[in-house]
Amino acid sequence: MKYVADEKRYDSMQYNKCGESGLKLPAVSLGLWHNFGDNADYENMCKMCFTAFDNGITHFDLANNYGPEAGSAERNFGKILNEHLKSYRDEMVISTKAGYYMWQGPYGDFGSRKYLIASLDQSLKRMNVDYVDIFYHHRMDKDTPLYETMWALDQIVKSGKALYVGLSNYDGKTMKEASDILRELRCPFVINQNRYSIFDRTPEQNGIIDAAVTEKKGMIIFSPLAQGLLTERYLKGIPDDSRVKTDGRFLKENSVSADYIEKAIRLNEIAKERGQTLAQMALSWVYAKEGVTSVLIGASKPQQIKENIGMANNSTFTKEELELIDEISK
Ligand SMILES: NC(=O)c1ccc[n+]([C@@H]2O[C@H](COP(=O)([O-])OP(=O)(O)OC[C@H]3O[C@@H](n4cnc5c(N)ncnc54)[C@H](OP(=O)(O)O)[C@@H]3O)[C@@H](O)[C@H]2O)c1
Repeated sequence: MKYVADEKRYDSMQYNKCGESGLKLPAVSLGLWHNFGDNADYENMCKMCFTAFDNGITHFDLANNYGPEAGSAERNFGKILNEHLKSYRDEMVISTKAGYYMWQGPYGDFGSRKYLIASLDQSLKRMNVDYVDIFYHHRMDKDTPLYETMWALDQIVKSGKALYVGLSNYDGKTMKEASDILRELRCPFVINQNRYSIFDRTPEQNGIIDAAVTEKKGMIIFSPLAQGLLTERYLKGIPDDSRVKTDGRFLKENSVSADYIEKAIRLNEIAKERGQTLAQMALSWVYAKEGVTSVLIGASKPQQIKENIGMANNSTFTKEELELIDEISK
């Protein structure tokens, strides 16, 4: 059946500029790290993309290695795009990345010019698109000179294969150095992608948020729900259809410890008092932080996406709430 996007799709979503750039991202973006590989159900993938787009989520985040197998999420997304969403391509921001292991030998990992350029060419083929909107270097690489990686990103933009550049998992100091190089090259570096949540405070410690604000770059936050731990999913045991059970590569059974359950129950109480679900509160907590452009969620069901976009209805916190959340999450 032909998909026709909801006419009211832009009515309730907020859009924020990536720093000082002209590019706006939705408050909630959809990531395809899980549930879009060849082990997942294609109909469900379609429904999740449609639900997202119908609700104003214009930004779809991928990487070369998303699957399993690596590459299959791009292939499946490309199929959805070409079968159903092609006429909306100019309303969408599609991002992909390279920086983690992708193929064997010395040229399929890290940050060399050789790897990044070849990898993006492969990604474009898998998605069957001419360009991506944002191309990220996926992680810092101390063995490749920073200028080599940045020159490669710049060439990628200038060759028309990506419109903007992003950096992922960089710390504040390295991002600032990269930003200086890219500014000299007049390369549109607009966004940082880092993990941040009530349970993972790394960006408060590694200087990335401060540097993003100073450099006037955007911040998109991944795993804001700690892969599902900051939802009601595991409060009564480990469901068979949860990430822990269906995948288990990155979120392991031992994460659902007695200590975790106690914290999650207490956080859930705060959420209820705020009139939110735990997932919504966890997302609005991240979204309320200075410099945050978009929260990048994953989902296994369309209903989760619908619930999560409701986070924008209450993104202010009292000082007491913030202190209590800090105390619980220690
Ligand atoms: N740059 C990087 O290095 C990097 C690394 C990781 C991720 N990312 C990006 O960030 C995206 C999001 O990461 P993530 O998937 O870890 O994010 P997340 O939003 O923290 O976790 C998503 C998972 O939480 C569960 N969930 C979501 N909403 C829920 C709700 N309302 N109620 C109950 N459970 C809910 C689902 O798991 P169930 O399967 O249990 O339902 C879902 O798959 C990725 O897809 C990817 O695009 C980037």
